[in-house]
Amino acid sequence: MTWVVTGGAGYIGSHVVRAFADEGIDTIVLDDMNSGRASFVPSGVEIVNGSITDPVLMAGVLGREGIEGVVHVAALKYAGVSVREPLDSFRVNVEGTRVLLQACLDSGVRNVVFSSSAAVFGTPDTDLVTEETPKNPESPYGESKLIGEWMLRDVARAAELNGEPPFRHTSLRYFNVVGSGVPTVYDASPHNLFPILLAAVTEGRTPTVFGEDYNTPDGSCVRDYIHVSDVASAHVAAARALAAGSPVSPAYNLGRGEGVSVKEIIGAVADVIGRPVPYDVGARRPGDPDRIVTSGAKAEAELGWQATRDLREMVASAWEAWNLAAAEGTARLG
Ligand code: UFG
Repeated sequence: MTWVVTGGAGYIGSHVVRAFADEGIDTIVLDDMNSGRASFVPSGVEIVNGSITDPVLMAGVLGREGIEGVVHVAALKYAGVSVREPLDSFRVNVEGTRVLLQACLDSGVRNVVFSSSAAVFGTPDTDLVTEETPKNPESPYGESKLIGEWMLRDVARAAELNGEPPFRHTSLRYFNVVGSGVPTVYDASPHNLFPILLAAVTEGRTPTVFGEDYNTPDGSCVRDYIHVSDVASAHVAAARALAAGSPVSPAYNLGRGEGVSVKEIIGAVADVIGRPVPYDVGARRPGDPDRIVTSGAKAEAELGWQATRDLREMVASAWEAWNLAAAEGTARLG
């Protein structure tokens, strides 16, 4: 049986593809190559180049023989950008997900693992976010992810009401995904802390901490960083549970329950590279919550999944992958 991974040529999606391959599960990558790179996809895995918003393409891929389910990673992912270009998020993340789900229903594909985000919570009013924490997205991106979760819920409910075979789904809410599982795949997101830091260090520029007057121990923002390979393995656990017909919750938060500040991340980078990383302190970035930390407890209990990689491994693997790309002249943000 085969799983389709939308966005499978991207930083996170290609790690998902590898995690499936490691478990002997075949995948087909569907990616518009907007931010994906063919070089990220393991050799031997088919790449279908196109958009999730294309109903004909989606029907063709999902209508193939032996498709067991979809891991739906493809999306526009920058919360900050989405505030200025809201309709793009809705076109790709909402309409694309609707097209994908229609193709699933039309083809009898009834297992979906959806990439959701901590952004559905906005600025949480709690030190430890759980799956039940109120959802108050503060960007079109976060809204589009919450709508995606709702669409899955509604499609499943309709299947039940209509007496159709169960439509099985879960949403994995990523917190701050960093690190590399293989040195050939690196995060090139121009808006995220890790790639910005690594690019600055290799290019001899001084990174900026966005605000040090937050209500946190050192004044910089606190996040829950998680290794991309741990995130990827959660998809395998979710896909297996869906395919096996085991009970699966509508959503799981993927984090480690450990809050780390921006300044602590800079310190961890300095430790790994063996020299200090000087930084400037700038203004707050609009929309950044002081602290957003979750726990992986629900996914651990119900999916048998665990995040096993610590912060040092996240930083060291990210640094190794960035360096390799820099040495090859291919390291670039965007
Ligand atoms: N930061 C800096 N300097 C930089 C870049 C980032 O200080 O040059 C800080 C940010 O202000 C933030 C922290 O580093 O406090 C992490 O920032 P990222 O942009 O890496 O990550 P975010 O926490 O903003 O965003 C992540 C995901 C989003 C998702 C969001 C939900 O990347 O897709 O979590 O909380 F929407």
